[in-house]
Amino acid sequence: MRVITYGTFDTLHYGHILLLERARAMGDYLIVGISSDEFNEGKGKRAHFDYETRKRLLQSLRCVDLIIPEHSWEQKREDIVAHKADIFIMGDDWKGKFDDLSDLCEVHYLPRTPNVSSTLMRQHLAAQG
Ligand code: CTP
Repeated sequence: MRVITYGTFDTLHYGHILLLERARAMGDYLIVGISSDEFNEGKGKRAHFDYETRKRLLQSLRCVDLIIPEHSWEQKREDIVAHKADIFIMGDDWKGKFDDLSDLCEVHYLPRTPNVSSTLMRQHLAAQG
């Protein structure tokens, strides 16, 4: 089974690793869509690390098989078809938001890991100057 998930994955942290490992364990091939810097800008979000750096970190993980850039909200349907994904995964902060994709593949929302987030990591980095 081929699994696909999306995110910014800024300041790669424990919560990301656990999400990706659980997603990979639901199948045998994991595709990760990483938000491009331009896509984040459009959302009014600014990552600490740029796209290439975030990609490089995720590439070093054994549980990640393929990385693709995410440029828009709408591309998910095309990606699922193009990459023959059987399962779509997101953390449960997105619960219900992608249910419309269930005509293409299984849609699952996994529980978020408590007490860790990129927002917190960025705050710690900013506090250090
Ligand atoms: N995630 C998770 N547990 C956390 C943080 C994130 O399971 N503690 C999951 C999200 O639910 C999502 C994926 O990891 O499916 C990528 O999340 P992302 O938005 O990049 O990370 P956050 O830490 O949530 O970032 P931010 O604080 O900027 O919202």
